[in-house]
Amino acid sequence: MLFKQQALLRQKLFVLGSLAIGSLLYLATRVGSLDRPQPICPIEGRSGSHIPEQIPLRTLQFKRGLLHELRKGNATTEQIQLHNLVQQLPQAIIIGVRKGGTRALLEMLNLHPAVVKASQEVHFFDNDPSYAKGIEWYRGKMPFSHPHQITIEKSPAYFITEEVPERIFKMNSSIKLLLIVREPTTRAVSDYTQVLEGKERKNKTYYKFEKLAIDPNTCEVNTKYKAVRTSIYTKHLEKWLKYFPVEQFHIVDGDRLITDPLPELQLVEQFLNLPPRISQYNLYFNATRGFYCLRFNIVFNKCLAGSKGRIHPDVDPSVVTKLRKFFHPFNQKFYQIIGRTFNWP
Ligand code: A3P
Repeated sequence: MLFKQQALLRQKLFVLGSLAIGSLLYLATRVGSLDRPQPICPIEGRSGSHIPEQIPLRTLQFKRGLLHELRKGNATTEQIQLHNLVQQLPQAIIIGVRKGGTRALLEMLNLHPAVVKASQEVHFFDNDPSYAKGIEWYRGKMPFSHPHQITIEKSPAYFITEEVPERIFKMNSSIKLLLIVREPTTRAVSDYTQVLEGKERKNKTYYKFEKLAIDPNTCEVNTKYKAVRTSIYTKHLEKWLKYFPVEQFHIVDGDRLITDPLPELQLVEQFLNLPPRISQYNLYFNATRGFYCLRFNIVFNKCLAGSKGRIHPDVDPSVVTKLRKFFHPFNQKFYQIIGRTFNWP
């Protein structure tokens, strides 16, 4: 009897012991893999890259630490010197278009270890008083980064502001320009929704979209309405093409960035001559938000603010049809210029 009980006890101890050893081994490998220096991946030979031969992938981790503090103005001069950090003028700019998905694009590109974003919209080139402060003022608005990283800023008003192409050209004639677009009518409604929300916040009343988008005298599309004008992409792009060749632009499909962001981001990585580093791991669909959110690492992830992804008001279908018909020829011209077609009606 005693012998049987001892055998049973030994058996239990053996099972418990195996479980404990297994857990310890698992933890050791997990912790080990976190501590282990990340591999340095070689970059495929691409011409014209600003990125050096090797990119320390740990930068991504670093970004959430010191650089985060730097952006908040919390780092000391010693830290900046120690890490050889610099404030660089942007090598690429997201020039627009408003409500195209510019914030999502910037935040998603910031997942890349070689990219550092300017968190705020700087509005340097479209705002005369800011522009008058000069290029060093602009540089001062840029985040600190390692010299091998590229800085990206976004100010969606750049795309539609007359003076901006020339001003950017004067700063850097070979800068890379990113433009994210959505189906023009949806973008116009999104634009309207943002303004409407602002009015409601101030307890003000506002016109219905239909009233603004259609001229009541002619019953035609009201081209004086800014939300309509902004969606005539070809008109704005043509002004930029007086300064920059079309190869210097990359057009991002904002509708696809919503439904399937990774392929769009991979195209941008190629355009920026960056090694492919953003992966499906970095993007996960959040059913509550109804959008993809960002995963930086095992502990840090985030979704965009609630102001991104508003519910649009219902718009009279006949007005939608009229607008789509109106935009159609402009869209065709836009496709021709950029050499890419979208599934817009
Ligand atoms: P809506 O609010 O009309 O849905 P911008 O940043 O240029 O203002 O663009 C805002 C748009 O980004 C939103 O328009 C939303 O549809 C789109 N968007 C794209 N990807 C998103 C994401 N992952 N999370 C939230 N919004 C996203």
